Formats: sequence, structure tokens, C-alpha cells
Amino acid sequence: MDKIVINGGERLIGDVKINGAKNAALPIIAASILADSTCTIKNVPALADIRTMSKLLSHLGAAVSSGTQKIMVNPTSINRHTAPYELVKTMRASVLVLGPLVAKYGKAEVSLPGGCAIGARPINLHLKALEQLGAKITLDHGYVRAEAKKLTGARIIFDNVTVTGTENLMMAACFAEGETLLENAACEPEIVDLANFLIKMGAQIQGAGSDIIRITGVTSLKGVEYEVMPDRIEAGTFMVAAALTKGNVRILNCPRDHLDAVISKLTEAHVTIEFEPDAIKVVGGHMLRGVDIKTAPYPGFPTDMQAQMMALNCVAEGLSVVKETIFENRFMHVSELNRMGADIRTDGRTAIIRGGAQLSGASVMATDLRASASLIIAGLVATGTTEVLRVYHLDRGYESIEKRLSALGADIKRVKE
Ligand code: EPU
Repeated sequence: MDKIVINGGERLIGDVKINGAKNAALPIIAASILADSTCTIKNVPALADIRTMSKLLSHLGAAVSSGTQKIMVNPTSINRHTAPYELVKTMRASVLVLGPLVAKYGKAEVSLPGGCAIGARPINLHLKALEQLGAKITLDHGYVRAEAKKLTGARIIFDNVTVTGTENLMMAACFAEGETLLENAACEPEIVDLANFLIKMGAQIQGAGSDIIRITGVTSLKGVEYEVMPDRIEAGTFMVAAALTKGNVRILNCPRDHLDAVISKLTEAHVTIEFEPDAIKVVGGHMLRGVDIKTAPYPGFPTDMQAQMMALNCVAEGLSVVKETIFENRFMHVSELNRMGADIRTDGRTAIIRGGAQLSGASVMATDLRASASLIIAGLVATGTTEVLRVYHLDRGYESIEKRLSALGADIKRVKE
């Protein structure tokens, strides 16, 4: 298995261009199931999760091909309606085919994802809402089966904000007869990108980006060409890396409007952020200060940036408190950061960080994507050599991160074992 080897201490300097958003591309690829002809999806990052979603659609019978940063899906040959365990266990977002399949074909079977490293992550809210649209849901041998002769629009009030739950229901409701209201819907920018894709296909959706989404059912959706928005979490990750290494980095293709909470915290941490017409410049030369963070659904501070900011807080001066409110077990990076010399104590979903640490390189292991990113950032400022193991987590969400950091001046490489 590959590992990433970093010799810390180099400042990041230069330009980096942000790729398409993984968490927008995944539901958009799933939504192409609803089309009556080929969809061409552009600005798709080359990531393991995207390959898994493509494999899943091919398994269903769709014709899927890919080019540089683009994927073409012709769903007209779909003749299976089951997402098998082998694919769902490698990527929970496979559950995003549930809504489109039941809406278009009247049946869908998806292996239940089960828990994962960061939390239990049930899909009960997806299922309850699909039932409200008229689907019959049964559980059998670890699979959830949804069946419906037809879906009918309904008023759905989500008990909790769920991103993929909102996406699944928005896709399903496109073919439900009449009007569907999704209330307490997730407001994440990725929801808006999916809605824009569906609207381009001919869907009638209003309010995406707010907590009430109104969908009027249609009978068909056409194949379209669409460009996925840039990845706010990838951008935020590079911003933290630039700040912590006392770097000077211009982030190009940066979705700045989606990064308000991150930018506000970085500014509070004494990072200098300059807005240029086509870039955000991050300058980290000043004395950094640890900042308190509480993760929350958008527009709050994203849970997907919590681990990276924790790395910054370890080195920045002062005491800080990080509260994770979205997932119950998203502190897997803490023990590894502590092995590198950080001073973090946790109590349930709260972490207290005594800043000012001089991190020292070590062999570290992460169990999820963003924790891996946090360890890479820590390695960039640690003395000596850091080896980040289990690189497959990183490859799920960051395309060639070692090459892009190396282009900015980091001493980092991928080593094959
Ligand atoms: N939840 C339920 N029941 C449900 C659905 C969710 O209890 O039916 C709970 C979850 O267990 C969690 C909370 O609600 O505690 C929020 O989960 P949500 O459904 O919003 O998360 P998700 O849709 O599974 C997406 C992203 C995650 C990101 C979260 C939160 C994709 C493919 N994944 O997950 O991204 O952390 O929203 O913003 O969009 C990542 O990219 O590293 C990643 C984990």
C-alpha cells in the first residue's frame, strides 16, 4: 500500500487550482440515472469515490465513459436496480442511487451502509421520507428495498438536517406526482449544485440553498452537459496548509462564497486573507492564534474542515475548544496528532487543545478522509519525517495532493510499498 512521506518545514508558496467538488459530483452522477439520454458531467475530480460511483452506475447497466475531468453517463440501458454490498461498503454515498432508481424504475435495492469510522450514520431519514412519497420500504438480508408504482408529492419535515438525505429526496421528488416540500432541508452548496443540474435537465425546483425546497414533479428529464462547482473543502484544506506553513498561496477557482465560516475562523486565527478578482490569497506569516470551533450544518463551520483546523490549533498559540456536533466519532486524528507532540484532550465530542506545540514527525495512520488531510497538514510543519499511512482514505477526496503540495514547495512524495 502507498504511503505519503513528508519532510516538514517548507513554506508553501505559489498558486493552486481547486478541482471539482466530490460531494457535488457524486449526487450529480447519481442523478444522471433520471435522464432520458446521455449526460456529460464536467469538472469531475479523479478520485476513488468518483470511480466507485461510476462502477456502481455501470453495474446497474448504464453506459459510463470518462475523459479528462469528465464523465459521460447514458442511463437508458439500466437493467438492474441493486447497489451491492461490495460497492456500498467502500462508499456510503452509493446510497444516492436509491432516490433516482425508485423514482424512475419503481424499485431500488441498496445494501444498508452500516456504521463507519466517523459515526453510525444511519439512513433512517432517507427511508422515512421516501415512505412519505409513497414508497414501500422493506429490509431484507442487509438490503433496503424501496418499491413504488408511483411516487406522490408530500410535505416532508426532516427530523435532522441531512445532506445526502435531502439530495436523495430532491431527486426522487422530481418524478413524484404533484408538489413535494422538503422542510428542514440541508442548505449546503452541493445541494444547490445538484438542484441546478436537475433544473437544467428540466426539473422544477425552487428554494435549494434554503431550508425549504419546493419540487413540482415532471414526467421526464433530458440529458444535459453540466460543470460541477469547485470543492470548498479542498480549497479550505489548502488554505489551512498555506496558513500553518507561514506560506503565501493563491487559491484559484476558489468558491469563496461557500467558505465564509472557514475564512472567518482563519481571520480570527490571524491568517491574512486577500481577495483578488480570480483568487483568494492566504498569507500565514503572522503569529497564529488557536480559535474555538463548533461544527454545524451549512452555513456553519463544516465538519469536513474540523480535523484540518485542529492541526492548526495545535501549533497556533493559546487554548482552543473544538466541538463536533455532526458526527459522534470524528476525532480519530486526535491520538495521531498527540503522537506527533500535540496537546489535545477530548471529552465526548469536545476537544480542548493547548496550542503552541512544536510537532515532530512520526508514522501516523488515519481512518477517514479529513483526518488524513489533517495529518498531512501536521506533517508539513513537523520537524523531521512524517509518514502518513493508509493513503487510500486521502485518495477518496483529494486528487494528487502530494503533487500539488510539492508544486507549492512542500517536501512530500508518495512511496509505493
Ligand atoms: N443522520 C441520521 N439519519 C439519516 C441521515 C443522517 O441520523 O438518515 C445523521 C448522521 O448520522 C449525522 C448527521 O445526521 O450524524 C448528518 O449526516 P448527513 O446525512 O448530513 O451526512 P451525509 O449526507 O452522510 C455528507 C457528506 C459528508 C459530510 C456530511 C456533513 C457526501 C457524499 N458526504 O454526508 O462528507 O461530512 O454530509 O456535511 O456528501 C467527507 O467528504 O469527508 C464527508 C464525510
